[in-house]
Amino acid sequence: MISFSLENKVALITGASRGIGEAIALALAQYGATCLLVSRKTDGLAAVQTKIRAAGGKADVLACHMGDLSRIERLIDQVQSDYGRLDILVNNAATNPYFGLMTDASEAAWDKTVGVNLKGPFFLIGHAAGLMAAGGGGSIVNVASINGVTPALYQGIYSISKAGVIAMTKAYAKELAEKNIRVNALLPGLTATKLSQALIDSDEIYQHAMSRIPLKRHAEPMEMAGAVLYLVSDAASFTTGTAVVCDGGALA
Ligand SMILES: NC(=O)c1ccc[n+]([C@@H]2O[C@H](COP(=O)([O-])OP(=O)(O)OC[C@H]3O[C@@H](n4cnc5c(N)ncnc54)[C@H](OP(=O)(O)O)[C@@H]3O)[C@@H](O)[C@H]2O)c1
Repeated sequence: MISFSLENKVALITGASRGIGEAIALALAQYGATCLLVSRKTDGLAAVQTKIRAAGGKADVLACHMGDLSRIERLIDQVQSDYGRLDILVNNAATNPYFGLMTDASEAAWDKTVGVNLKGPFFLIGHAAGLMAAGGGGSIVNVASINGVTPALYQGIYSISKAGVIAMTKAYAKELAEKNIRVNALLPGLTATKLSQALIDSDEIYQHAMSRIPLKRHAEPMEMAGAVLYLVSDAASFTTGTAVVCDGGALA
């Protein structure tokens, strides 16, 4: 029997207050996981928690800035003391503050983008792995981007950070296999969220994107959640170190 059940599993999802992270949290909760919803601001998280509980699911709210390593360490300490285990980690939170030429980019833009998108997830996995291993293993999904494979013009630093997330996924998959922790990546294409709003609202950028997407549309956030559900479930028990691409065919 193939099982997608996440009953009795504790799942931590970063960037869960809106967009793709919210959709992932709703899906994992629907399949039985207790979802720990993480982002900087608790207001958005509380709204997602309410939706999950209204549907009969389990969710709690935890604030953390993914660019702050001391808070990341405290986050895992709190999960350990309050829940005693961690089965699933979805590194989804990311930022893209700079749109422009790399030759004009500031050190601050580099530090913020790489700090939140790559350094934070790297250390979150480092802190979480021991807790996961103590519970017998687990599954990690890092949300990268198709830009990590084919960098987008004016999104150079973001694309570099996402290429790093793909490499990090493979490296951790090899290192953590002996602890029975699987590590995979999700590579979304253009998806309607706050992060991509400016791209979708720009006629020129949107038409360019559509010329590269065989399905001729952008995705809705929930279209990303099924792939994550698969990767974190026992249905993907032999899958580690890989990336699932959900991009309407853009990389084909
Ligand atoms: N949308 C797309 O077209 C697209 C395409 C490819 C890949 N992706 C990837 O998909 C993931 C989700 O993106 P999205 O489009 O859903 O973005 P979004 O709608 O802007 O949501 C981003 C989430 O991350 C949180 N966040 C931002 N900075 C944070 C920080 N420093 N610390 C902790 N949480 C932080 C936000 O909450 P707070 O503001 O409360 O912190 C929010 O919950 C990202 O990894 C993104 O790179 C998106």
